[in-house]
Amino acid sequence: MIAPPQDSDRSNRLLRALLRQPVDMTPVWLMRQAGRYLPEYRALRTQAGSFLNLCQTPELACEVTLQPVRRFPLDGAILFSDILTVPDAMGLGLQFVEGEGPRFERPIRDKHDVARLSVPDPHVDLRYVLDTVSLVRRELAGLCPLIGFSGSPWTLATYMVEGQGSSDFRRIKGLLYTDPALLTRLLTVLVAAVTAYLNAQIEAGAQAVMIFDTWGGSLAADHFLRYSRDPMSAIIAKLIRTRDGKPVPVVVFTKGGGTWLPALAETQCDALGIDWTCSLRAAREIVGDKVALQGNLDPMALYSPPDRLREEVLAVLADFGTGPGHVFNLGHGVLPDVDPERVALCIDTVHTASARSRFSQ
Ligand code: CP3
Repeated sequence: MIAPPQDSDRSNRLLRALLRQPVDMTPVWLMRQAGRYLPEYRALRTQAGSFLNLCQTPELACEVTLQPVRRFPLDGAILFSDILTVPDAMGLGLQFVEGEGPRFERPIRDKHDVARLSVPDPHVDLRYVLDTVSLVRRELAGLCPLIGFSGSPWTLATYMVEGQGSSDFRRIKGLLYTDPALLTRLLTVLVAAVTAYLNAQIEAGAQAVMIFDTWGGSLAADHFLRYSRDPMSAIIAKLIRTRDGKPVPVVVFTKGGGTWLPALAETQCDALGIDWTCSLRAAREIVGDKVALQGNLDPMALYSPPDRLREEVLAVLADFGTGPGHVFNLGHGVLPDVDPERVALCIDTVHTASARSRFSQ
């Protein structure tokens, strides 16, 4: 006889915690859990020839998504793709220059470029992502849930206007101060694009979705609300929140967003991603029982010797305290030269320590 699924096993611990329901132990997944620190990723990446080819070939993207959940007892798989596939589908021409990161061939430079943008149809222009989602769901066969994602409108706009990564955001900030109406038009197209894209991922089988607002923390306080938070709220208001009778939790992660937690908790998301600069205890006091929290080990802690790493993981668990509503993660992505053994130790420590101390009372 097949055992019925438990309330809190690997198949649903993450979804339950995102909804602030009780679990047997703290679920854990890691941003960038698939990537260059894994030898099996590097092998497939070489075979694919390029990162974009890896993203655009569903069989390969599926395999890379599954690599970390096969190797480690992670509680969630995250779709292997990139936030910049959306602007690519809008015609900007995405390239990854080896050693330099992303670059657009046709960045947004003026009002004509914005006027030419249209909302991509995810079923046509991002078909390869939806095919990957369906394939991953089939291959996971209920082992753990699949998280879909998108960039936030503000974060996508920074890359589209800068044309590449930036340390000071002078082009997009220049646009904000000289022509805010044009920036608003760009963000409006992106709200529609991200909404359609996330809903298509949910329809294809994503069981939770996360909005990466990597550069929201670069904005001045009231600008953050208008140009980053409000567009995210507009998306969340139109997302499919229940699929096949099950809630689809929404996570918002603004890196450097610690001072805006009350405003972020008002987006109607289910959980907030927290980076390592913000205490989980303080975050919890601020958001109360409104949302779950996901985070927040400093990614650099993965370079510590084993005993020190264990202490740091325990400190994150203790900082959150007891009770439901915590998903363990890093405050940002796993770096490429991290030892996979440290990742294994981090996950094991979260599971064993939380099962013992947090939920056994
Ligand atoms: O978390 C995961 O495991 C899922 C996969 C994922 C990738 N990118 C794979 C990737 C996710 C969720 C992203 C999101 C993403 N992409 C963000 C938001 C999250 C964050 O990191 O802040 C951003 C800003 C990007 C844009 C991007 N993609 C940059 C700046 C770079 C270059 C930096 C780098 O690490 O090389 C990428 C490339 C990228 N995206 C890689 C991976 C595994 C490395 C590509 C390679 O194999 O060379």
